[in-house]
Amino acid sequence: MILVVGGAGYIGSHVVKQLVETKPVVVLDNLSTGHRYLVDKRAVFVHGDLGDRATLVRIFEKYPIDAVMHFAANSLVGESVAEPMKYYKNNVAATLTLLETMMEYGVKRFIFSSTAAVYGIPNVDIITEQCPTNPINPYGRSKLMVEHMLSDFASAYDLRYVVLRYFNAAGAHESGEIGEDHHPETHLIPLILQHLLGLRDKISVFGTDYDTPDGTCIRDYIHVTDLAEAHILALHALLSDEKKTAVYNVGNGLGYSVKEVIDMCERVTGKKATIEYTVRRPGDPARLVASSENIARELGWKATRSLEDIIASAWRWHASKRG
Ligand code: UFG
Repeated sequence: MILVVGGAGYIGSHVVKQLVETKPVVVLDNLSTGHRYLVDKRAVFVHGDLGDRATLVRIFEKYPIDAVMHFAANSLVGESVAEPMKYYKNNVAATLTLLETMMEYGVKRFIFSSTAAVYGIPNVDIITEQCPTNPINPYGRSKLMVEHMLSDFASAYDLRYVVLRYFNAAGAHESGEIGEDHHPETHLIPLILQHLLGLRDKISVFGTDYDTPDGTCIRDYIHVTDLAEAHILALHALLSDEKKTAVYNVGNGLGYSVKEVIDMCERVTGKKATIEYTVRRPGDPARLVASSENIARELGWKATRSLEDIIASAWRWHASKRG
């Protein structure tokens, strides 16, 4: 059985939906940012905190857990600067409790959701896992601290793990049943689509003076279904390879500027956006584009969905729930 912590969140719920096809799954989520309706009905659902040892003990006593996938985290960069305590408590301390309880119960396979934010402001066009990690906000630091913990746990306690450093996850499941549902929403693609649905009066472009061809920030958008497939492959590797420890970027390898994303949203939806050009958002690197060659070579993973696919699937989702 696989324990998915944070399985009611955006990315976790997409992984659960794929995972339940082949494996029994138990989801632990406190529903602080996730939603019960996103969790596939075939999974067992436990409402609780990952930092609560008693809840974890109950799960490990009751279910034969082979591996843990950990998606539960606070993930807003701006909020992490204003409230670092929340980030170190929920993202670092709670994860330590989870790992400690796993070690106690002999559960030694772990998949961890990390982020491109561990690289800070990279000085290369294409980021490989060998690039220096130098996060510039508490969110990125909280994720990197867990990466360090995992490495030390692997040496000392024989933990096997795969860290996946996500670039910009976007899009929705092809069934139209689940998708991105953040409150508040801060991500570019859902904000544009909500505007095009008439739910917001405009889309703001944060900064037009970056050192990029059109002056707006470039990001690597990865379809949430491609990202989910990376987790399934990582799990298979962990379950079959006794010695596995790895850190992989997961991105498309293609960079799109904010303006290009807005253009594509207009094309896909056939609607025209009202754009407000405004000042930079603090802490935004000009360009974040991944090399995912390592995961391609070692796990056979490849992103197969384009920016157009991402936006089309997200549009179906937002239009169906009108938000
Ligand atoms: N943007 C706008 N207007 C908006 C929202 C976003 O112009 O209304 C721009 C941002 O400035 C950025 C790009 O669109 O240049 C993408 O922004 P998102 O907020 O969608 O995503 P980020 O790249 O900021 O964030 C993602 C993840 C974070 C992670 C970060 C790593 O969502 O969890 O990458 O840098 F920390």
